[in-house]
Amino acid sequence: MVGILEDKDRIFTNLYGLHDWGLEGAKARGCWNATREMLQQGPEWIVDNIKASGLRGRGGAGFSTGLKWSFMPKEVGARPHYLVVNADESEPGTCKDREILRHDPHLLIEGCLIASFAMRAHACYIYLRGEYVREREVLEEAVKQAYEAKLIGKNNIHGWDFDLYVHHGAGAYICGEETALLESLEGKKGQPRLKPPFPAGAGLYGCPTTVNNVESIAVAGTILRRGADWFAGIGRANNTGTKLMCISGHVNKPCNVEEAMSIPLRQLLEEHCGGVRGGWGNLKAIIPGGSSVPMIPAEQCETALMDFDSLRELRSGLGTAAVIVMDKSTDLVRAIARLSYFYKHESCGQCTPCREGTGWMWRVMDRMARGDAEMKEIDILLDVASQVEGHTICALGDAAAWPIQGLFRHFRPEIEARIASYRSGRPHVQGHSIAAE
Ligand SMILES: Cc1cc2nc3c(=O)[nH]c(=O)nc-3n(C[C@H](O)[C@H](O)[C@H](O)COP(=O)(O)O)c2cc1C
Ligand code: SF4
Repeated sequence: MVGILEDKDRIFTNLYGLHDWGLEGAKARGCWNATREMLQQGPEWIVDNIKASGLRGRGGAGFSTGLKWSFMPKEVGARPHYLVVNADESEPGTCKDREILRHDPHLLIEGCLIASFAMRAHACYIYLRGEYVREREVLEEAVKQAYEAKLIGKNNIHGWDFDLYVHHGAGAYICGEETALLESLEGKKGQPRLKPPFPAGAGLYGCPTTVNNVESIAVAGTILRRGADWFAGIGRANNTGTKLMCISGHVNKPCNVEEAMSIPLRQLLEEHCGGVRGGWGNLKAIIPGGSSVPMIPAEQCETALMDFDSLRELRSGLGTAAVIVMDKSTDLVRAIARLSYFYKHESCGQCTPCREGTGWMWRVMDRMARGDAEMKEIDILLDVASQVEGHTICALGDAAAWPIQGLFRHFRPEIEARIASYRSGRPHVQGHSIAAE
């Protein structure tokens, strides 16, 4: 089935916070129902079903969640196992985990218990974005409710001793990268680690660890309750299930919505967001998966599906499914220059291509937004972007290069015209410098 998700297939039935987020409300919506029976089926049954559901990580990279869980050692040795939930959510445009944390926290807590049991972990840490203060308050209260009801903790009713800790970060985009997150959790500077070793071998405190996104974990309970086939039957092969999508920018009604994976992008905007501001014909480009994925121009938006494979074929990506819509009033060069500034600001500085390249690319992009550049600098910029991409410890380098590459792939003549106009004494009118924002 591809298209609009039916209400009966929604996992996040309190996405908009219209109902009680607390334990009673969550139970009334089906959460914590038959959790004990699921655990009684054993860890392999859980991992096999999550694999069969086709669930792919919702944090951006889209790696099979069941497969990732299966990488954890099958026996617990001298080192304990850990689950770490990535609630750092700092990718510009992305605001989906936030709604789970504040409106449906018990789905996440139940998912933490199930996933931890499947990976033989007795402890789980949820690492929260520094700015998510209200979300932390709700989550902590929900964790307390779960302890008091003996749903988690020592000697709980599910028969698997399990402790859950909420850790509040200090607010840094790089701490969303899984190994930087682990460093930060250990009390160190949040800088990514070289891989290998991967976290399943040596993660938190050097112990076997799996890091998963909030949404990846929060859907686990419902998948097991309703069956892997149900989840696998939504969307397309290799792109299954429901997905939280965050639509911002130039639409009439920006929103968060849970939709079927593979919904056509145009249908998503027209059914849920009241369409593009000024009509579909006024669309210029869309960043479909959070600020780090390359933009696609309006013609491609016509046929794009909101899934991993369709957007990869268009040389973009589903990322976090944060759709940033830009109409014809948008100064795309300036918009991407602003993102370049963000990545420069968030680089942790460990690797030279990223530390130097992000700053260099931003300075050139800032000039190009005014047209103050030479034509040959376009190729130099693209060359530098390709030298940053794939040559760094973590994917922040790629994230800085891709938006620039996407811009030039589709809109190079616009930038050339702007440079030509500047050089002929008719500069492009622009406000203050991007760094000053
Ligand atoms: C710079 C950077 C920032 C990231 N930020 C986040 C984030 O805020 N939340 C998240 O879930 N994953 C983030 N990721 C991806 C994580 O490294 C990791 O792949 C993810 O948490 C795995 O979860 P999943 O398999 O459930 O998707 C980020 C990656 C990079 C390179
Ligand atoms: S790519 Fe950038 S953010 Fe990632 S480790 Fe290197 S310097 Fe740090």
